Amino acid sequence: MEEKEISKAVIKRLPRYYRYLGELLESGVERISSNELSTKMKVTASQIRQDLNNFGGFGQQGYGYNVKHLYTEIGKILGLDQNHNVIIIGAGNLGQAIANYGAFEKRGFIINGIFDVNPRLQGVTVRGIEIRMIDELEQFIKENNVQIAALTIPKSKAAEMADLLIEYGVKAIWNFAHTDLNLPEEVLVENVHLSESLMRLSYNITRYEKEHFKD
Ligand code: NAI
Repeated sequence: MEEKEISKAVIKRLPRYYRYLGELLESGVERISSNELSTKMKVTASQIRQDLNNFGGFGQQGYGYNVKHLYTEIGKILGLDQNHNVIIIGAGNLGQAIANYGAFEKRGFIINGIFDVNPRLQGVTVRGIEIRMIDELEQFIKENNVQIAALTIPKSKAAEMADLLIEYGVKAIWNFAHTDLNLPEEVLVENVHLSESLMRLSYNITRYEKEHFKD
């Protein structure tokens, strides 16, 4: 398939398409029209056609989309046809919760190391994954082809740790620490902030209450 620049907005929507197509596959649906997908996903059919046309020729007039094909192609675009080695930095509440969630592996994200500075955690295992001390970090990253590091440490330590991870060869940071990391452009950062999502809910609750319970 011809490689072409896909807009960030489309890429942001791809995981959702992938999830819906996966559910359709599981329930035995072989093909779907953009109109049907539109009703399911509550996105306009023209948006779907526009988005999916980015990948060229998946849909056919009068036939719709071949679910399996589209699912596989979107999976490839998202890089889910390959495994990615992931480490977690910070084995506290959040780090351990992420490590305990086995389903990331089904998508090819293999958590193979957890690191902390607290010596009391050394050697403890989470879902069979050993917690190691930071002095093993460099060697571990180099020997295990680690691509992604999840940062679940206090924000005061995040920037310094991110620099170290990059120096040791990590390509992407999954940042949970509540701070913006100023990293070189080639380093990929995905910020995940549950509290921001909660604030959006709070905004909407407040607006809803104002609209529905005036006076
Ligand atoms: P926690 O205190 O349970 O765990 C933090 C762990 O990091 C501890 O085990 C500590 O020993 C370790 N640590 C500290 N400095 C380190 C370093 N330099 N290298 C390696 N490990 C180090 O805290 P919790 O609840 O797990 O939260 C962790 C971080 O994630 C905090 O910054 C918190 O604000 C943030 N957080 C973010 C959320 C989000 O949605 N983005 C949600 C919840 C927490």
